[in-house]
Amino acid sequence: MTPRGAVSVRDALDGAVTAIGAGGSASPRLDAELLLADALGTTRERLHTDPDAPVRGAAVRAFQSHVRRRAVDREPVAYIVGHRAFRRLELAVDARVLVPRPETELLVELALALPARARVLDCCCGGGAIALALKDERPDLELCGSDVDADALAVAEANAARLGLEVAWRQADLLTGLPDAFDAIVANAPYVERATIPTLEPEISRHEPRHALDGGPSGLETLARLIEQASSTTVATLILEHGQGQEHKVAALCRAAGYTNVTHHRDLARTVRALSASR
Ligand SMILES: C[S@@+](CC[C@H](N)C(=O)[O-])C[C@H]1O[C@@H](n2cnc3c(N)ncnc32)[C@H](O)[C@@H]1O
Repeated sequence: MTPRGAVSVRDALDGAVTAIGAGGSASPRLDAELLLADALGTTRERLHTDPDAPVRGAAVRAFQSHVRRRAVDREPVAYIVGHRAFRRLELAVDARVLVPRPETELLVELALALPARARVLDCCCGGGAIALALKDERPDLELCGSDVDADALAVAEANAARLGLEVAWRQADLLTGLPDAFDAIVANAPYVERATIPTLEPEISRHEPRHALDGGPSGLETLARLIEQASSTTVATLILEHGQGQEHKVAALCRAAGYTNVTHHRDLARTVRALSASR
């Protein structure tokens, strides 16, 4: 029984699922559960085990605000609750950084094969997802994360401090001004074709930092510059995320820069999403 004056977890969720679904989310139940768990300070699992538990007072108000932000403003759940799972880590995220994507975990998986104690740069690190996950899973690697944006680096540094993971952080426009001291670069650089950004889902086009998405008119400007810069350093291996359908162009850029050993990789959705190249 739910006490008088309170709404049950089940009813709160049902109402939110309807509102969030009507707002256009593709995953209204998952969103509602994550938002209610946050408002109650509990886990999704606990919501399932006790659907008659009451929701009242401050939790009701927090949940209503969360649902409005999700349903009406189309804000990503990760920004509303302030964190996102990536590999084995729970990372703090906010509107200063891109929400780490499941497909980017593929880059970490590929980088796990790097030689012992390799010096690795996570270029365009945002909130630090790749560098931090790699340091967590391969503590022998020497990790540096770099980004052009000081606000993104502040998120990355705070994540590293909270998780107790040792990564060096540098502010730089791609490799400009960084020491030539890396064996490998792992990068999820911006690769969205500029003109298509307004056509993306509002979660992305309205809320995520534009400079985290914008790969220039062709989508490939940033990756092309990074590959070209890397070719005049000691970097032997590139592990790069790219957009759907960009694999041949990115491979051609790598080969033209002297990275001849190119392999394409598919993400969990079977989309060709990353490329590794070495010389
Ligand atoms: C697609 S986000 C990726 C963030 C993070 N690596 C991830 O996978 O979640 C791209 C990042 O590249 C950064 N960036 C954009 N242009 C850059 C540049 N010229 N040099 C360095 N970083 C850049 C943005 O600030 C943003 O944090």
